[in-house]
Amino acid sequence: MKRAKITVVGAGNVGASCAVFAAQQELGDVVLIDIPDFADKTAGKALDLAQCGPVQRFDANIVGTADYKHAEGSDVVIITAGIPRKPGMSRDDLIQTNVKIVSSVSERIVKVAPEAVLIIVSNPLDAMVYTAWKTTDFPTHRVIGQAGCLDIARYRTFIAMELGCSIEDITALLMGGHGDDMVPLPRYTSVAGIPVTQLIGAARLEEIIQRAKVGGGEIVKLMGTSAYYAPAAGSVQMAEAIIKDKKRILPCAAFCDSEYGVGGYFVGVPCVLGSGGVEKVIEVELDGNERKQLTASVEHVKELVGIADGFMKG
Ligand code: NAI
Ligand code: 2OP
Repeated sequence: MKRAKITVVGAGNVGASCAVFAAQQELGDVVLIDIPDFADKTAGKALDLAQCGPVQRFDANIVGTADYKHAEGSDVVIITAGIPRKPGMSRDDLIQTNVKIVSSVSERIVKVAPEAVLIIVSNPLDAMVYTAWKTTDFPTHRVIGQAGCLDIARYRTFIAMELGCSIEDITALLMGGHGDDMVPLPRYTSVAGIPVTQLIGAARLEEIIQRAKVGGGEIVKLMGTSAYYAPAAGSVQMAEAIIKDKKRILPCAAFCDSEYGVGGYFVGVPCVLGSGGVEKVIEVELDGNERKQLTASVEHVKELVGIADGFMKG
């Protein structure tokens, strides 16, 4: 069977971690791309990772380069290129720089991997997915943003910590943009089938939800830069669902038009992910308060997209 090819653009913290997880999970051959100034460093990272193969027992060709020709025919391209936030910055502060970076990367990817499914990670996420879509003109189902897999992993981690139970038994749903106004949904959170609201009191659950919402900022304060292991794990979880055509239901930034009445923006919603990318957006029932929160989050996404659009045209 022909191996899949995963290209990761941006070989920094998130990108290099994506390469590690993708190789460890033997998802396919991995191409890491960064700017020409970092070509040697990127080649070094790839060689170092390749030398994990005998120990971690994976067979994969790992290439580190600044040359997009190596990305030719990629099945999945994960875009992590861009600046991360520093303490005191919000994700939105990155927009001007990252619109330029994500547009230029997308222009190059479309030439070498026109059939790929794109997973965008660069921030501000919801606006960067839009930027990549506008630049590539790919069908919307092949342009997807990673945020929900990370945000929900944070939420599930904090619930498991609270209950002292396995994270495997926690399933949850989270929607909206990748901002502090994301919408975790306790009504759709369960622990081995038991509604979480029966196990954690309302006030404590609200604290956990707040911590998940600002989970990115908590790590920026601790590390001086943004998180990378969990973001990479979330991105590779999506890549795996696509490459193995698993039809997993994952929270992703997907194009929604009539769905949830969004009107043509990429926002976090539960999606079926398979070889075609987003194969379906699942619409769940929302009560008045949940819908209000989602609407507020979507309004923020629209505002960011408007700013990104301005920078793309300017
Ligand atoms: P980093 O600074 O460690 O790595 C970014 C890499 O992108 C650098 O190696 C840089 O040289 C490269 N790059 C810049 N311009 C490029 C270009 N034109 N072509 C190719 N490569 C280019 O940053 P980190 O921590 O890896 O974060 C990357 C992005 O991901 C940031 O925008 C960050 O905010 C975002 N992020 C998003 C998350 C999410 O859940 N959506 C979670 C964590 C980070
Ligand atoms: C995070 O949530 C910064 O988006 C990144 O960690």
